[in-house]
Amino acid sequence: MSEGRGIKIGNIILDGDLVMPAVAGYSDVGQRVLAYRYGASLAHTEMISAKGLVYGSDNTEALLATDPREKILAVQLFGSEPEFIAKAVKHPAIAKFALIDLNFGCPVPKIVRNGEGSALMRDPVRLKEVVCAAVESADKRPVTAKIRAGFTSCERNAPEIAAVIESAGASAVTVHGRTRDMFYSGKSDREIIKKVKESVSIPVIANGDVTDRDSYLRTLEETGADGVAVARAAMGRPYIFSELRGEYPDIDRGALIAEHFSIISAVMPEKVAVNCMKKHIAAYAYGLRGGKDLKLRAFAASCADDILKVAEAFSRLYSESMV
Ligand SMILES: Cc1cc2nc3c(=O)[nH]c(=O)nc-3n(C[C@H](O)[C@H](O)[C@H](O)COP(=O)(O)O)c2cc1C
Repeated sequence: MSEGRGIKIGNIILDGDLVMPAVAGYSDVGQRVLAYRYGASLAHTEMISAKGLVYGSDNTEALLATDPREKILAVQLFGSEPEFIAKAVKHPAIAKFALIDLNFGCPVPKIVRNGEGSALMRDPVRLKEVVCAAVESADKRPVTAKIRAGFTSCERNAPEIAAVIESAGASAVTVHGRTRDMFYSGKSDREIIKKVKESVSIPVIANGDVTDRDSYLRTLEETGADGVAVARAAMGRPYIFSELRGEYPDIDRGALIAEHFSIISAVMPEKVAVNCMKKHIAAYAYGLRGGKDLKLRAFAASCADDILKVAEAFSRLYSESMV
């Protein structure tokens, strides 16, 4: 186990081993700026449809918004058609991203029915074509992939799939230790991540159920992985990356909410930013005494001012807890 070391992903050297993976609806530019500030070494956009991007669907622009404070710009794409993946990787909107991650783990039925996301874990030939298409189009930028343990408990083929991904030229693989049919229930299996680590020589990022320093260190130790990706536990808690490193900053969640909102407001129309912030506030309120009321107030918000008032109320709770 070697906590905190950097990872070399193609031509990029991370300054540590903590990653925030793609989280649809949550890993927006505000979440990423805060994750980087508190010690993540890599943070991804949420998954973007390669086809949607190529056809110019409406909402991709906000999803692709970035901020100069992000240490590394990393985008996640999904799709099952190599020609669309190639076009998406070459798309002008993707030019600013230094790293391209491919999603082979999404369990959502609509995505899987399209043969995308985790469906590709059942189709190694197609999956390889998709990775090759991305690598060939990426102009030397590293391409990485995110997979699950397998599709079902009888098809736990992550080690074989990771080897295919490596042979296609990818520079790292992240493994969520659940199968597709588990969605997000049950426990992430560290044993299969260890097997992936043994089957490839590119860096392996372990993912699943890391919520505190203890689970971070145990995951590194039991899997032998090069790094750890933290998704759900970072929502409403971007400062978890400091905690995983053994630092416990004093956090005024109200100030954090106001800052998060200000970052996304710079790139989204007010209404979109307000709605986006409601989900985040629910996460920021989690586990806080009085948090339920604040969450309800956020859900009733209809403009930026309402969100800022909720942020102030969080700060008041924080000040009261200090006296
Ligand atoms: C609401 C939600 C959205 C997600 N969106 C994505 C996504 O866009 N791309 C992806 O690769 N994984 C996505 N994931 C999976 C997470 O990145 C991660 O693999 C999973 O939550 C397990 O890690 P955790 O235990 O740290 O949360 C999503 C998970 C959740 C709960």
